[in-house]
Formats: sequence, structure tokens, C-alpha cells
Amino acid sequence: MIDKIRKLEKLSMLLDPGLSQRTKWNSKVLDYSNTFINKLQTTKAFFYSDENGKDIFNLDIEEKSTGLTSLLDSITKNIDEVGINPASGGHMGYIPGGGLYPSALGDFIAAVNNRYAGVFFAAPGAVRLENMLIRWMCRLMGYPDEATGNLTSGGSIANLVALVTAREAHNIKARDFDKSVIYLSEQAHHSVLKAIRIAGLSEAPIRYIPLDEKLRLSANELEKAIIKDKENGLMPFFINASFGTTNTGAVDPIESIAHIAIKHKLWFHVDAAYGGFFKLVTKLNSKFEGIQQADSITLDPHKTLFLPFGTGTILIKNKEKSLKAFQYLADYMQDTIDADEEISPADISPEQTKHFRGMRMWLPLKLFGLKPFRAALEEKLYLTRYFYDKIKKIEGFEVGPEPELSIAIFRYVPTNRKADSFNEKLIKAIQKDGRIFLSSTNINDVFWIRIAVVSFRTHLVHIELLLDIIEENVRKISIELN
Ligand SMILES: Cc1ncc(COP(=O)(O)O)c(C=O)c1O
Repeated sequence: MIDKIRKLEKLSMLLDPGLSQRTKWNSKVLDYSNTFINKLQTTKAFFYSDENGKDIFNLDIEEKSTGLTSLLDSITKNIDEVGINPASGGHMGYIPGGGLYPSALGDFIAAVNNRYAGVFFAAPGAVRLENMLIRWMCRLMGYPDEATGNLTSGGSIANLVALVTAREAHNIKARDFDKSVIYLSEQAHHSVLKAIRIAGLSEAPIRYIPLDEKLRLSANELEKAIIKDKENGLMPFFINASFGTTNTGAVDPIESIAHIAIKHKLWFHVDAAYGGFFKLVTKLNSKFEGIQQADSITLDPHKTLFLPFGTGTILIKNKEKSLKAFQYLADYMQDTIDADEEISPADISPEQTKHFRGMRMWLPLKLFGLKPFRAALEEKLYLTRYFYDKIKKIEGFEVGPEPELSIAIFRYVPTNRKADSFNEKLIKAIQKDGRIFLSSTNINDVFWIRIAVVSFRTHLVHIELLLDIIEENVRKISIELN
């Protein structure tokens, strides 16, 4: 047996390479990262390709090992240079993600030390660090010290956690599902609808509250709907408001909705996945009035805090309600019970073992300080406004509501043709060009092109380039169609 163990040990120790091998790998990965970042000024924001990364299948898992150089080459060719390039400042489609460099270093540290950040007993320092970030975000939103929260993988899971917490807080059982009413607007992110299904609430009546002309949920209509449902013997229980819709960045009237929620005793959730961190821009503070009254708030650091994908946040005002929804005690976890100086993330979220996400968030915030984050967010507001003002003045263009945050919609309306099909051609042409990536949407059966200025790498030069690309393609398409 000893011989067998020794033989296996020799092989298994390959999983723990020595300093010289690590140094070689580190240097290659650093070269790759530096080349990737240095090239961003000139590489595309969207790569059109027939192959679409198919060759990655040549690198399926095998018994034998493969050298890092060929793997990195394949990553560049089959992963980095196909589809959307979210690291590019030219990415202004959907809601662009970030990718702050210190976050990569934070992930590296978190993967090397592999702290078990779900449980305080196991990783007190890591849990303190994550809870410190949660408390910072709570303060930012005006939440009391007793509030709690969790770093999730993104906004969708954060919205799901909010809904499940609300369901448990309101003691809603399966027999109540078809009476438990949920209120939102048609501009709510589809992850809220997904959450309803995942939380088992598909049978719950959903009320789509009418919007005002700026595509914001109407508080008056909301209250009317709640009153009517109560009169009909239903149990209104959950309101979702958006602080920054995905389509247009519209901000629902948070303060008025908060009053209604309190008056009628409904759970009030604010999906601020995209818009929440604009609180760092002082001049926008009044827009946030009332958010502190919400029972839960979704924030997405991988959007407007410029982190790489994989970091969302749910804040829950009442810690006991969080615990009621998610805490379980298992026999094999009994050693952890007395270590309760800090709440453990595993007790207030669906996850047990989890990535130590806090490190990728804390490191850039500490290395940069808040100042450049505030500046970058304010810059994005101005860039969007600048684009909106410019495109509005170009003959033939129509724009949507004035941007409240950093998303705007626009379309070209040709005099003698159908606008929708013209704009379909225009978005395809912009995407094929690839220097800037935009996406399109449909609002009340009208085809719009969107610009979402969220990447920390998007600056004035990209907006000027975009305006040129749009004008150039409108000319080309018009000629083609004539
Ligand atoms: C307003 C809003 N809520 C929720 C989400 C979902 O977040 P995630 O993609 O991080 O799961 C998004 C994503 O774009 C969003 O814009």
C-alpha cells in the first residue's frame, strides 16, 4: 500500500507546481494580459466571425497535459476575438460590464488563498471584508446599520433573493400563490419574471402598471391597482421598481412608491442593478430619495462599479427576514454555530461554498479610492447627454426620452421608407463594422437603437467615433435603398 501511495503522491504532486514553473506561467499570463489591454485601443468592440470560436473544441480535456503558450494563443483566437468584447471602451450595447485590472489581481489572490468566504467560523477575515463592503453599500443607499446583504453572482440572483425573502417574510405558502399579487412595469428587467418562476410563484397574479411618457411606472396607477386587488380579496405583496431600466435608464418614482408600499404593507424591492451606483454622483442624490424605505435593493457592481462579470449585490433591510428565508443548520456545520460575530453569507443566500467575491471588489476600491469612480460615473452621464444632444440635431433622427442616467435610445426616420427596417439595417451595419458595439430594442412595437455608456473605458473619443459611424452608415444604407 505504501508503494502505491508513494507512486500516486508523485503524480498528484504535479497539481502543486514549484516556484520555477509558477514563475514561468505567471509571466506568460502577464504577457497575455498586457498584450490584451494594450491592444484594446485598436481592437474591435464586436468581432464578426464565421467560425465563432469553434476551434476551442480542439482543446477538449485529455489525459495528457498541454503547454500554456498554445492555450493562450487559442484563448486569443477563439475566445477574445469573437463576439462582443466587453473590455472595450467601444462596447455600448446591452449593459456593458467592466473589468477593472485590480479586480483581476483580487480574483488571483482569492483563487490562491481560496478562503471559505461563506462562513464566518471558516474565514472570519474574508467574511468581515465582504460584510464591510455590504455595510458600505448600505450606507450609500441610506440603510440603517442593522441592514444586511450578500454579494451574489449578479443582479438576477439578487432579484431572486429579494423575492424569496419577501415570500418568506409575508409567510406565503403554496396555497396562497394564486392570490399573492406582484406589481411591476413592463420595463422591469426580465430577471424579475424569471425570479417569479424560479421562486415557484408562476401562479401569482402579475400586474403590469402603466407607464408615464418617460417610461416610468405610474405611482397613481399602482395604488389604484393595489386597492382594486384588495377589494377583490387578493393579497398584494410585492412591488418591484426600477432605478434605471435596462431599455432606457428610466428611474421609477421611488419615493411615491415607497409611501404606497408602506401604507398598504407590501414588500418594496428596488432593482437598482444598473442605476444604483450613480448614487456616487452627488448631483444625482435627490433622485434616490425614498430608496432607503425599500425592503430590498439590488445593486450590480459588475455594471456601474466597473467590476468584471460575476459580482452582484442584494441588500436586505431586515436581517431577521434574511435569516428566515435562507438559514439552515446542518449537523456537520455544528462547529460554526458559536462563531457569530458577523453574519455568515451562507445564512442569508442560496449559496454555501462561494467564490470570495469581496476581494475583486475591495481591492480596486482601496487601490483607487472613490474619487475616480465618482468621476467616471459623472463622465458617463455627460457623454450620454452629449450623444443625445448631438444625434437629436442630425437631420432625420428621432430620440427617446431625455436620458436620466447613461442610456439613450434613438432611431433614423427616413422620409419615404419604413423606419423599423431601416434601423434594423443600421444596427446590423454598426455591429458588422465592430469598432463600436450597440444593441437594439423594441418599445411599444417600435424598433429603437440603444446606447448604454457604462464601460469605464468609454470616453469622448468613442462617442465622436460612434457619431461618425452612424452618419456614415445612414448614408450608405440610403444609397443602397435608392
Ligand atoms: C435593471 C437590471 N436588473 C437586473 C439585471 C440582471 O443582472 P445580471 O445580468 O447581473 O444577472 C440587469 C442586467 O442587465 C438589469 O439591467
